[in-house]
Parts: sequence; structure tokens; C-alpha cells
Amino acid sequence: MHYSMREILSNIFPVEKNIPERFRVDEQIEQREYLVAGELKVWKGNLNPVLSPVYVKDGNDFKQKVIGSTPLLTSHESLEALDAAVKAYDLGNGVWPTLSVAQRIEHVEKFLNAMRLKRDEVVKLLMWEIGKSLKDSEKEFDRTCDYITDTIKALKDLDRNSAKLVEEQGYTAQIRRVPLGVALCMGPFNYPLNETFTTLIPALIMGNTVVFKPAKYGVLLIRPLIDAFRTSFPPGVINIIYGRGRETVGALMETGKVDVFAFIGTNKGANDLKRLHPKPHRLKSILGLDAKNPAIVLPDADLDNAVAECIMGSLSFNGQRCTALKILFVHDSIVDKFIEKFKAGIAKLKPGMPWDDGVNLTPLPEPGKTDYLSDLVNDARKHGAAVVNEKGGEIVNSFFYPALLFPVNDKMKVYAEEQFGPVIPIVPFHEDDEAIQYVVNSNFGQQVSIFGNDSKRVARFMDAFVNQVGRINLNTQSQRGPDSFPFNGRKDSAEGTLSIADALRVFSIRTIVATKSTEGNIQIMGNIIRNRESAFLSTDYIF
Ligand code: G3H
Repeated sequence: MHYSMREILSNIFPVEKNIPERFRVDEQIEQREYLVAGELKVWKGNLNPVLSPVYVKDGNDFKQKVIGSTPLLTSHESLEALDAAVKAYDLGNGVWPTLSVAQRIEHVEKFLNAMRLKRDEVVKLLMWEIGKSLKDSEKEFDRTCDYITDTIKALKDLDRNSAKLVEEQGYTAQIRRVPLGVALCMGPFNYPLNETFTTLIPALIMGNTVVFKPAKYGVLLIRPLIDAFRTSFPPGVINIIYGRGRETVGALMETGKVDVFAFIGTNKGANDLKRLHPKPHRLKSILGLDAKNPAIVLPDADLDNAVAECIMGSLSFNGQRCTALKILFVHDSIVDKFIEKFKAGIAKLKPGMPWDDGVNLTPLPEPGKTDYLSDLVNDARKHGAAVVNEKGGEIVNSFFYPALLFPVNDKMKVYAEEQFGPVIPIVPFHEDDEAIQYVVNSNFGQQVSIFGNDSKRVARFMDAFVNQVGRINLNTQSQRGPDSFPFNGRKDSAEGTLSIADALRVFSIRTIVATKSTEGNIQIMGNIIRNRESAFLSTDYIF
């Protein structure tokens, strides 16, 4: 049977009995536990309700599903968690920072094995908490497990390379990477598992101790893993807290005891928190922040490919990816054809619930998000743009049907603001320099995608962008993966570089043991190594 988009949208939210049984949340999950110093503590105070983006039809009404609640800890409990991490680090003398690399790897492997057993639970909560489709939720879980496996492999490589002694200008030395101290790790709601773990796991495996606060949404899904954390690591090495950012995390930064701040979120959030640290020079930050990645479509681009990639780039997970394409510059000679194909492409995307087969478009988890997106659309209309696709911008509760906006110009909010949602602005351009200047003058500098076949013209764009963004994609959408590629950004988009290998570097520092290569010194070094008298100075390595 063929349904019109109107019918599909008006029936997008299910009645309870139509939710497949294996995905139903029959009872609310009341989480009271949090992890401090290896102990699951029980919170007796206020809880924060966890609202799903999914509404359920009840007669003529819709009810937003409340799937549970999480602890609203105060600064008191978060400071306890910090103290536990500080104690476990023990100024670098704790069990964890002094453990051998091989032993730390064993702990992480133990965690990974326990984590794998929780796949179904975590995947189901990903769907309910942030509206991510089943397929993408499974992908997020599996990609995270792969990331951990690859991190272990990269650490073994690093360890092997550091096992040798270096001879330079009459000196003999050994250079190894050691931890930085106490890390505070916070992830984003759009990849609450993956992005969080891409800092958390490297921080841990390099010997840092951690306070971890889950994202704003996508909080309950960490719960099935708490016990795996508790049983896999020594007490205090990983502490997990919940609550409002200002109250909990702000207090931690003010102590000056956080050595590493790993945060994926907005640059405003990062600035506010960094400012609270009393000794900025002692704080090392690893940040993944806002982005407004443009696509530039040149006249000779393969249009079918450009459209397919731009649709994926702008609408995967409803555009809620930091790497999403958030503005499309399309050459005016092809823009009409491009729009026709784009409209047809959007119409093929299936709106629905996260568990629906083949679903592409799902409800949005952030409260007030549909209002914000509507405001962007209205503002663009006021300045001369139209929504050019059928049903574009229609709202049903938390669901927002993608709005393709054209022609967009610099007077509109959507030209500069990161929409982080299913609004796709198209800017027609005539001279290449118009698109180049957008990137050069933008406050953000994560990635850009160029679509075209004229190598000379493409090369000119590439060279114009190499000092502006962290990655230039040719005839493909912007994205983080493969995870072995460096992931960073310029300007307000990031601080530091993440990748499987780079993350091990950013959560550690090199320490050197060096001596003049005299006979006596070489003998002392030799004795230390032969008799295994030092954990650091050693030529042992892991296979
Ligand atoms: O939200 C930002 C993510 O790192 C994007 O990762 O490009 O693989 O979706 P992705």
C-alpha cells in the first residue's frame, strides 16, 4: 500500500501495542547508583526524568515517553568522585599510573568483554534516549568496541617502539609515554557512547584516572556498563557522576585538581568550564566542538554522487553529527538540477521510529529543538529563502521533517549558526571565491567537502582550505572515520587531535631517562634493565 507523506507524518508516532515487544520499555528505569572509589553508591536525593524523543499515541493525544530517571548529584558527590580519582592517581604513585602497560591492557580487555555482553541493552537505550535508529545504534556500539580493540593494538605498537634505547650525540636515553594525571571526560548526546569512549578509554589505558560525566541526553545507556567499569578497574580509577553540568563539573574545575579536560560539546560550554580552572597552564584540553562544514558543488560534479553524499552528509541521524554538512554551496549553473535531485532524494528517506525497518528520519531528543529549527526556517523566509521540498519543516511533536532552504544568503541566521538538525541551507554561488571566503571567514574549521572533476579547479580549492580546516573531502561527505585518521579542527571547532593513535598521545606525555654514554653509566643502565629493577627503564615489550 502506498501512503502519502502526509499520512506517514500524521501516523509517525505509534500506539504502545504497535511497538515491537523486544524494543518496549515496560517499566521505567530508576537509576540511583553512581560510581565513586570502586563503590556503587546509592543516591537518595532528587532525580532527573529521562524523556524520550518518542511520543506514544493515546486516543487523540500524544504522550511523551518517560523511560526513567538519573541522579541529580550535587557538587558534594562530584567532589567525592574527584577526590577518589586524585587518590587513585596519588601524584603519579598510585597503582594505576605505575602499572605496566601489559597489565593496564588486561584491565581494559576485561572491561571490553563485559561490555560486549551488554550490547542489546545499550542499543535499546540509545534508540529510546536519543532516537537513533536500530542500525545506527548497533553501529555505534560495534564501532566503539572496535575502537577499544584498535586502541589496545596501537598501544602495543607504541610500547614496542618505546622499548628501545636511543643513542644521540654521546647520550643514551629511553623515551616513554606516561600519564598526565586526573582526567575529566564528558561526551556529547549525539554519540553518547562512541565519542565519550574515544576519550575515556585512551585516558584510562595511558594510566590517567578519570571522572566521567555522561552527556545531557543518552545517560541511562551508560548504566548497563557501570558494573563492568567497577569490576574491571582498581577503585577510584574510573568514577561516574550524574547531574547538571554547572553544579557538578563546574565545582571540579574550580578545585584546580583536573589535569586533563576531555570534552565534546559546544565551544561556549568548553570556554565556560575552562575559565573556572585556577591554573590554566596545568590544564590540558582535548576538545571536539561546533562545526559548520560546507559542501561546495562545482559545475562539472557528478550530480548523482554529489546529491547522494550531501543527503547522507546533511541528514544522517537527522543532521545531528558534528561532522554533518551544514551548508551547501552549489554553483548557480547547476543549482536547479541539484535541488530537483535533492528533493527526490529526501522524499525517499523513511520517517519513523528508531526500531522501524529501514528508517532514516527519527524524532529529535533536545527539548525545544523543533522550535529552534522553525525559527531558523522563518528567519530564512523573512530574508528571501523558501522551503523548496514538500512538507519541509513540518513538525509532529519532536519530529521535524527536513527543510531544504533556497536561496540562502548571509543575512540569515542559518548561514552562520550550526543548526545541528534537519535543515539544509543551499547557497547558490557564481565565483569560486564566494565559497572560499565563507570558509576563510567562518569561526569554525572542522571539515569541508568539494564535489567536482576538474582537477585544476579542485586543487585550487584544496590549497585555499588546507590552513582553514582539518580535513578536505573530495567527492565525499564529511565524516570522522576511518577512526585511524586524525580528527581535529581549527578555530572554534576543536583543540587537539584524536584518532586511535593520536588519542594515546594527547592523554600522555613523554618522559626521558638520559645519561652520558660513559662506561659506568652504561653499566648502571644495563644492570637496571637486565635485573628488571625499574618499571620504566626496560627493554621489555608486549607482543
Ligand atoms: O558528531 C561527531 C562525530 O564524531 C561524527 O562522527 O562522522 O563518523 O558520524 P561520524
